[in-house]
Amino acid sequence: MARPRVFSGIQPTADSFHLGNYLGALRQWVTLQETHDAVYCVVDLHAITLPHDPALLRQRTRVAAAQLLGAGLDPQRCIVFVQSHVPEHAELAWVLGCITGFGEASRMIQFKDKAARAGSDQASVGLFTYPVLQAADILLYATDQVPVGEDQRQHLELTRDLAQRFNHRFGATFVVPGPYILTDVAKITDLTEPTAKMSKSSSAPQGIVDLLDEPAAIRRKISRAVTDADGEIRADEQAKPGVTNLLRIYSALSGESVADLEARYAGAGYGTFKKDLAEVVVDALAPIRERTEKMLADEAQLDRLLAVGAARAREIASQTMDTVRNRIGFLPPG
Ligand code: TYM
Repeated sequence: MARPRVFSGIQPTADSFHLGNYLGALRQWVTLQETHDAVYCVVDLHAITLPHDPALLRQRTRVAAAQLLGAGLDPQRCIVFVQSHVPEHAELAWVLGCITGFGEASRMIQFKDKAARAGSDQASVGLFTYPVLQAADILLYATDQVPVGEDQRQHLELTRDLAQRFNHRFGATFVVPGPYILTDVAKITDLTEPTAKMSKSSSAPQGIVDLLDEPAAIRRKISRAVTDADGEIRADEQAKPGVTNLLRIYSALSGESVADLEARYAGAGYGTFKKDLAEVVVDALAPIRERTEKMLADEAQLDRLLAVGAARAREIASQTMDTVRNRIGFLPPG
């Protein structure tokens, strides 16, 4: 029997991915390549929805791809490619945009947040239609499940709605995908502001652990992570968001349950706990950083792997697009 398909994407909008990206998404991507037909994409079309520097985007796209491989994606086991190498993404986005309601798109929380941050005059139409492009990414590959963090849930709802609407109007074409979200790691928070999501666009770098951080930086950031005054190492999302976030990170990386960690650190101070956690994080990230650097040392080889990935992705995407063009009523070229 065919394996179920997973598809996911990540933006090359920073010099490094962070621990939230890793625990919320990438780690699941790596696991799923063993059991699923997996397709993963560096979404550079999405990365130009906010003002950007072209040379930096090119560089970050390579670094992003290198990190995906460094984190454990294996091009023998899954497809890894760059979105702009497969033009069907932009083409399907146009078609889906024509069945998306203006009001429906206006309700997207991420658009409202990003537009508010940019200032509404600065927000582009591309930023507004961002979720439609994301739907196109997913639907091109007959995706069954989409491994992402909690912040992507609303975009997946829109994707499902668009797939169902298209199927209803034009005949069964798209698989209606479901989310694959692991609740314990779906929202890793900022170390200095533990009620906010850890985010590439956050203003304070001390709050973010980057996958490519040196051990000294990781130790410093974790030692300064905001906790609280009661001194107890115990998970309580409402009363103790900082400690809860650190426990979740510790548990996800060590495999020990939060309850076991609470028992082990009962009566210990935050200092000891943070010191141990820092070593767990350093040990988990060091091999990823080393493998990423190795991939980046041979750019020609990296670009070749991405070309192979794009060719494999395009084979699937072009078939879907053929069906879509036919269903929608475009005259085939003679
Ligand atoms: P992006 O690039 O912002 O983030 C990549 C993935 O990391 C997850 N994530 C987190 N998970 C837990 N805690 C956090 N603090 C945290 N921060 C980020 C995100 O949920 C995401 O899974 N719109 C998408 C990219 C995209 C996409 C797609 C995803 C484009 N097309 C198609 C899936 C399918 C985004 O901006 O992810």
